[in-house]
Amino acid sequence: MPKIKCIGVLTSGGDAPGMNAAIRAVTRTALYNNIKVIGIKRGYQGMINANYKQLRSHNVSHIIQTGGTILKTARCQKFRTVEGRKTAYNQLKKHGIDAVVVIGGDGSFKGARKFSEEYNIPFVGIPGTIDNDLFGSDYTIGFDTALNTIVEAVDKIRDTASAHNRLFFIEVMGRDVGFLALRSGIACGAEGILIPEVKTHTKNLKAFLEEGNKRKKSSNIFIVAEGDDAGGAFEIAEKVKDDFKDYDVRVTVLGHIQRGGSPTAFDRVMASRLGYAAVEAIMDDQKSIMVGIVNNKIAHTPFNQTIKYQKDINRSLLKMSFVLAM
Ligand code: F6P
Repeated sequence: MPKIKCIGVLTSGGDAPGMNAAIRAVTRTALYNNIKVIGIKRGYQGMINANYKQLRSHNVSHIIQTGGTILKTARCQKFRTVEGRKTAYNQLKKHGIDAVVVIGGDGSFKGARKFSEEYNIPFVGIPGTIDNDLFGSDYTIGFDTALNTIVEAVDKIRDTASAHNRLFFIEVMGRDVGFLALRSGIACGAEGILIPEVKTHTKNLKAFLEEGNKRKKSSNIFIVAEGDDAGGAFEIAEKVKDDFKDYDVRVTVLGHIQRGGSPTAFDRVMASRLGYAAVEAIMDDQKSIMVGIVNNKIAHTPFNQTIKYQKDINRSLLKMSFVLAM
């Protein structure tokens, strides 16, 4: 592989707090190694449209603390087509881009893997999604920030729930997974945590609550992952309404507030480590891999595996949360 002279960097899929810290780390590490950096705007769509901008050191100043992504992001249908990827390749070649760092989730890595099978431009991925659902990394960029945002919101809801002796169903993000729901539920002492990985029997919820009420609970909070098999928070509240006549039920959907805000120190440090590691991996002739952190060490996982395998939720934590919330 000839020496890499120019790296492209893009963010793709749902944004996550800490993506900017990763862009900064990729840029500064590459520049330190005399590699030119091109920021690709709006993910794969920008790659196809040659929406490119050279990044110099000052372009990534004062972004480590900001949410969103300075490169913007998008979900791109065209990159799923042979034609779209061909145009992307031609544009990368034309602009002298030898390798690409993709910051995103599994959908973004599927595109990267497909492209790598067809063309000889190395792609390296950095896990960036609040969902924390990527096999090959214990944490993904943005998860910790989103978790803390949820905890702050649920603590506030707890105050009003207690004041009125109410029961709240609070919906958090997690289209396919319950990592945010599980962690936030534990951190907030939720009475119930409903996640897609574990079947929800809405008929059993009341009996469960009554156990807690015997212990004189003044409020109840159920954290519901949006992708729960029994539905989102509104749907579940609707399903249990006849059973729950004695309860004063309210529903809150936290929504996109979970995706914004200044990244936590944890996310900034992780994004910095991963950005640095991604450029090192490219210089080391790696391709078609995701850099992640496993047991606090940098790990390389082939895209094939990050896409094929599901990261397991820790079910023993779910059991623990029930015991502690009693
Ligand atoms: O992929 C991350 C995620 O946060 C999911 O949990 C959620 O379903 C989705 O983004 C919503 O994103 P959007 O509204 O941008 O489609």
